[in-house]
Amino acid sequence: MKQIIRLTVNGDVYEVAAHPWRTLNDVLREDIHLTGTKKGCGDGDCGACTVLLDGRAVASCLTLAIEAEGFEIVTVEGLAASREKLHPIQQSFVDEGAIQCGYCTPGMELAALHLLSKNSDPTEEEIRAGLSGNLCRCTGYTKIVSAIKEAARRLRADRPA
Ligand code: FES
Ligand code: FES
Repeated sequence: MKQIIRLTVNGDVYEVAAHPWRTLNDVLREDIHLTGTKKGCGDGDCGACTVLLDGRAVASCLTLAIEAEGFEIVTVEGLAASREKLHPIQQSFVDEGAIQCGYCTPGMELAALHLLSKNSDPTEEEIRAGLSGNLCRCTGYTKIVSAIKEAARRLRADRPA
């Protein structure tokens, strides 16, 4: 039987009538129509579906929507402060040429946000370890690592002294 599930996504509250067995990924994409969160393997292996729950990166394909009640959920649609200005992580991905087909990009960017919230100046090794749950079939990762290094630099520069 469906039940009302209340989700806070990018600061907005949504009430969705959904079966309790539906994943957060499906509810975000199909009910709330935030399709920036991708679905790849559906099995916890690729990271394309990564979102933040209270700042922690999780696979939305392995999370039931009902389990996400009470958390602040952030999807890629919530990264930019406005339509005119991308988040520094997004802008760095663009500037460093870290996007090809783009399918992995939302998950990569949210995993990067999680990483940079814990470590403002990660080494290449730390970036690669932080993104080890996110697969990219196109870029070979080098430009993604450069983008995250650049994003870290920009975020540090933006921080009030
Ligand atoms: S779709 Fe969730 S990890 Fe691949
Ligand atoms: S840019 Fe295509 S999968 Fe990463």
